[in-house]
Amino acid sequence: MATKKLTTLCSFLATVSAGVVGFENEIYHESMVTVRASPNIALIKYWGKRDQILMLPHHSSISITLDGDNEVLYGDKNIKLFTTTSVLISNRLTHDELYINEELITSDDQSAHGLFRAIKILRDIADSREKMLIVSENLFPTAAGLASSASGIAALVFAVSMALKLDLSSRQLSIIARMGSGSASRSVIGGVVRWNSGLRDDGSDSFAQQIYSPNYWPEIVDLIAIVSLEEKKTSSRDGMAATVKSSGLYKERVRGVDERLQDLENAFREQNLAKLAKIVMIESNNMHATMLDTIEDLNRDTGSVIAGYTFDAGPNAHIITVKKYVGIITDRLSKIEGIKTLIMAGVGEGPRLLDSSDSLINREVLKPRDPSRAGALYTL
Ligand code: DP6
Repeated sequence: MATKKLTTLCSFLATVSAGVVGFENEIYHESMVTVRASPNIALIKYWGKRDQILMLPHHSSISITLDGDNEVLYGDKNIKLFTTTSVLISNRLTHDELYINEELITSDDQSAHGLFRAIKILRDIADSREKMLIVSENLFPTAAGLASSASGIAALVFAVSMALKLDLSSRQLSIIARMGSGSASRSVIGGVVRWNSGLRDDGSDSFAQQIYSPNYWPEIVDLIAIVSLEEKKTSSRDGMAATVKSSGLYKERVRGVDERLQDLENAFREQNLAKLAKIVMIESNNMHATMLDTIEDLNRDTGSVIAGYTFDAGPNAHIITVKKYVGIITDRLSKIEGIKTLIMAGVGEGPRLLDSSDSLINREVLKPRDPSRAGALYTL
């Protein structure tokens, strides 16, 4: 099924591109290109797929492609928001090699799956079997929520298509990048970009287009306040799949998103910061509300469900489990900074009568028996 869908897509893309340049009998000579592409920040977010294979979203999204010639106002001055990718295609090469941030990546590396998929599609379109050496570098942290997969795949798709001498339109580049990672479909295009979800099952109408050029509103900037460079524990791919599967709020999100897309386009058109700021916050909160409403992934490390959390109005977590898992959970919790006390309580009885020896009253003197005890109760 998956292979069939991919084959259909490749033949669709090949038909479109074969009209642009003639590939037949073309003998590839050595070619090398180096390109750069930047991440994007979604202002109306892509969260949830209607087709996992073709990476077709449930709704459209809008992003701004970030300027790689960024300034670092304070902090690590070396951070540059772009991926640089070089591709060499040569018949002197005996096998393919892909390096990302100086590490050799193999096809069993799950996180690079999208890259290999995009390469395969481009190769099939060009009908090329030449080996490739691909070297890709990010000058910003990978997988820390800064959309490195979007810029990485956009750079790769652009570079490989150039090295294969494919003359692809931005629509075709966007569709191929989408097959590597949804958000990458927007990073092959500059400015303010809208990725239309499309309606067709083959994904041929699901691609990104520029809606405003980078110069349309030159004053607008994204100040990225980095608080952690740690890799995310759950990939967006797994997270959004879990949301679609388990969140009741998600349907509501999809219902409201079209209006927000329109409001955001209007805010850009009018260059209205107040409007834009409000919409982006509502949208961000909305996506995060559906994430909070996602329950699928909680017990991902243990393989089966061993616990669930519940919070009352305050910040303290109550973790509901059974006794046999207390050890493993306590072990995890002890590694979380900030948990000062861990109490274990079973299910108790209702009120019951205590013995007179437990009385807090000294009947003889008609006073509390041990005033210091009350204070002691609160010393945990
Ligand atoms: C929260 O594009 O990384 O950044 O298509 O599964 O590769 P896959 O997911 P990915 O998801 C990005 C999600 C997001 C929002 C966005 O960029 O629109």
